[in-house]
Amino acid sequence: MIKKCLFPAAGYGTRFLPATKAMPKEMLTLVNKPLIQYGVEEALAAGITGMAIVTGRGKRAIEDHFDISYELEHQIAGTSKEKALADIRHIIDVCTFSYTRQIEMKGLGHAILTGETLVGDEPFAVILADDYCVAEPDPVLLQMVRLYEQHKCSIVAIEEVPREETFKYGVIGGEEESEGVFRINQMVEKPDPADAPSNLAIIGRYILTPDIFDILRSTPPGRNGELQITDALMTQAAEGRVLGYRFKGRRFDCGSVEGFVQATNHCYENYYKAG
Ligand code: G1P
Repeated sequence: MIKKCLFPAAGYGTRFLPATKAMPKEMLTLVNKPLIQYGVEEALAAGITGMAIVTGRGKRAIEDHFDISYELEHQIAGTSKEKALADIRHIIDVCTFSYTRQIEMKGLGHAILTGETLVGDEPFAVILADDYCVAEPDPVLLQMVRLYEQHKCSIVAIEEVPREETFKYGVIGGEEESEGVFRINQMVEKPDPADAPSNLAIIGRYILTPDIFDILRSTPPGRNGELQITDALMTQAAEGRVLGYRFKGRRFDCGSVEGFVQATNHCYENYYKAG
């Protein structure tokens, strides 16, 4: 049903300078696996095999990562190190990767619109790789795909955040239709706490219907003079066509140093150390 997942991956990652000077921020690793690989694995676990990546200048390492490295693989063939590449080899075997470049950084809405050429006229998922999500047994995007199958409309993942932090997020307002599922009637990008419709923040998992592209084309620049996906989604929400889904699981904000360190510790304790 949902066959493609879009990964906006053109941003600079200035909070991690100098690490991100010559390396894409999506290639920062939680222990031994880059952030974007966790995102791809989550999409794959949701039954999606078409990975559509919006890159930019200085991002070639992403393409190389999702490709075979003949020299390296030849070197370690037959050694115990081979198993370290098992996950990524599986991804390369079963997924297809397509890329396009965002020439100018004009906001998340602009990045998603740039991806239209890769996605086409079908519903699709979006993962922001710096929101790292863990959930058992079903990954967050799989939970959302299931909900999409019932409702066939756009869905944003949401979580409760402290009121004073609404200025960091897109924030929704709406009616809770069933446990954790909100019919959205308000969406504001990075509101001051006093203006926020709630403390339910959008996090980096979306399922979007393809009419979003035409809407994005006619949406004026919003917060910070950038084309915001939140504003475009509000057009759909005004027609009752957007759900907010309070996902089951935990999200780490790997766009911040603190969240990144917490996520690193989580991965070390739960996956790496545990083998
Ligand atoms: C983007 C979106 C925002 C959303 C956030 C989730 O903001 O514009 O609505 O809440 O991702 O991570 P950014 O973090 O790119 O500034």
